[in-house]
Amino acid sequence: MESPFKADALKGKVALITGGGSGIGFEISTQFGKHGASIAIMGRRKQVLDSAVSALQSLGIPAIGIEGDVRKQEDAKRVVELTFQYFGRLDILVNAAAGNFLAPAEDLSPNGFRTVLDIDSVGTFTMCYEALKYLKKGGPGRSSSGGGTILNISATLHYTASWYQVHVSAAKAAVDATMRNLALEWGTDYDIRVNGIAPGPIGDTPGMSKLAPKEIESSVREFMPLFKLGDKWDIAMAALFLSSDAGKFINGAIIVVDGGLWLSRPRH
Ligand code: HXC
Repeated sequence: MESPFKADALKGKVALITGGGSGIGFEISTQFGKHGASIAIMGRRKQVLDSAVSALQSLGIPAIGIEGDVRKQEDAKRVVELTFQYFGRLDILVNAAAGNFLAPAEDLSPNGFRTVLDIDSVGTFTMCYEALKYLKKGGPGRSSSGGGTILNISATLHYTASWYQVHVSAAKAAVDATMRNLALEWGTDYDIRVNGIAPGPIGDTPGMSKLAPKEIESSVREFMPLFKLGDKWDIAMAALFLSSDAGKFINGAIIVVDGGLWLSRPRH
């Protein structure tokens, strides 16, 4: 689908996208690149990174892939530094890396709970922490007036409660709380905007194939207000809006992109 945004919306910007080699992260990488940004993607699997980078480069997008696990602070630090060394600046950090599986709470070991918090919540904070130096106004490669921006890919499942997702609900609640606190502290001190996107069910993603097999997918469509799954493109367009100058006064906000699903109820 054609983008409604101008092709130079992110011209000259450098974006680092964790989990940028697949799913929603890859679509954000692609759309940011198509709108003028240079792209660094971080992920754990070399093969996934290599094919994602080739796909971006074949579209004429300057792109590199850097292996790393957001759970390891040394990886986060190295990836952020390499991105800066390669492109000479860092403007946008997108935290799209996430871990998930369905497990009833009684069958979920504390280590399983901790693993998802480590990836989603601690991983997001660690990336923000390591990127701060480059994102803050006056940081390396930046002017004294303009800071960069951070975008977290969250969820809606912790707005209410979700079956077999206690670990992810807790993790994404922490991601959202972290986002608001950083928006306050770093927005005030460093001119960095920090926001979130909460996707609903998005077709053709690792999340959907893990969490909602085809049967569930079709039953979801029956009670969704817009009667359909979202596209990765829908998330990427919201990301583009928030990360570009169109979102320059938006800080500490979450855009829910779920077709109205989380607030929907059966008619009777
Ligand atoms: C119960 C499980 C489990 C399962 C893992 N564990 N899978 N418990 N049911 N299906 C437990 C393990 O038993 C172990 O605890 C602990 O979790 C760590 O497991 P490991 O396999 O050692 O972890 P690791 O290899 O680091 O893998 C992390 C992972 C994996 C999260 C488990 O799925 C992963 O790497 N995922 C990344 C990709 C991904 O999930 N993408 C989808 C994101 S979608 P014990 O006690 O046995 O040691 C998404 C959407 C969210 O995030 C919003 C939804 C609406």
